[in-house]
Amino acid sequence: MALPVRIEAALKAAIDGADTPSAPPGLIKALRYAVFPGGARVRPTLSLAVARACGDDHPAISDAAAVAVELLHCASLVHDDLPCFDNADFRRGKPSVHTVHGEPIALLTGDALIVMAFERLAVAAAIKPARLAPLITTIARGVGAPSGIVAGQAWESEPSAPLDIYHQAKTGALFVAATTSGAIAAGADGAPWRALGETLGAAYQVADDLLDALQSGAGECDKPVGQDALLKRPSAVAERGVHGALERLYALVEQAVASVPQCEGAQEMRDMVRFSAMRLAPKQLARSAA
Ligand code: IPE
Ligand code: IPE
Ligand code: MG
Ligand code: MG
Repeated sequence: MALPVRIEAALKAAIDGADTPSAPPGLIKALRYAVFPGGARVRPTLSLAVARACGDDHPAISDAAAVAVELLHCASLVHDDLPCFDNADFRRGKPSVHTVHGEPIALLTGDALIVMAFERLAVAAAIKPARLAPLITTIARGVGAPSGIVAGQAWESEPSAPLDIYHQAKTGALFVAATTSGAIAAGADGAPWRALGETLGAAYQVADDLLDALQSGAGECDKPVGQDALLKRPSAVAERGVHGALERLYALVEQAVASVPQCEGAQEMRDMVRFSAMRLAPKQLARSAA
């Protein structure tokens, strides 16, 4: 089955599972709104692609890892858009979750998605319990306090933040969780896939910073732009300038491509890596620099 089909079906099953007669209808509506329609689904695609490269011997576990990573990503976006963080009223081409469903439900939507991610993992991995502990460990590290998304967001409350550490925490860590969880879900070692997650995550955030700085916002982007300067966030563009950031993006993409471990389908994986990282790069700029 094609990866996007697997991902959407598995995400739908996860949200449907919460939709019971006793559940608060407003919360369930908000959960669905936060997850569908999705964005690029870059992280679950990466997770499943790695699982496939490692044999994908239990597709239900690979699907659960991919779903967990995407649910955590969706939760991070819901929380990130709240007034106490970026105060963004637009996400994925429509009003953000709190704009439509209110702040209390948006906060709870993010919380519910985080818990659901680990529940789906636990349920699916029951057929191979030895994989559950490493899966939970690697995915939790992508979102947790010392060096995951929580840390990334918390750096914004510090007087200053080292750019690479900030980017690695807010974006790179979940990409690492995506690559390593894909391998572990398929019964393989996650370690050889770590560098791919780190470099692709770093590239992706540099591309996002370029997009934020350079798009005009008039229909060019599915979320607000110009936010990094407005909110005084550390960004690749602020630190290196546009051309410096673009050079860094290209270097990281090449590093990411080179870090794909030897495996069946390595070339397909390299193509996907290049495509994912460049998806966000402002098109005109990327063309003129090419
Ligand atoms: C947005 O991620 C946040 C970043 C870390 C750049 P995506 O660009 O992957 O968002 P969606 O899922 O496609 O909307
Ligand atoms: C992205 O942060 C990482 C998250 C933890 C959500 P940003 O604030 O830079 O992402 P966008 O630009 O709102 O998607
Ligand atoms: Mg933010
Ligand atoms: Mg934001």
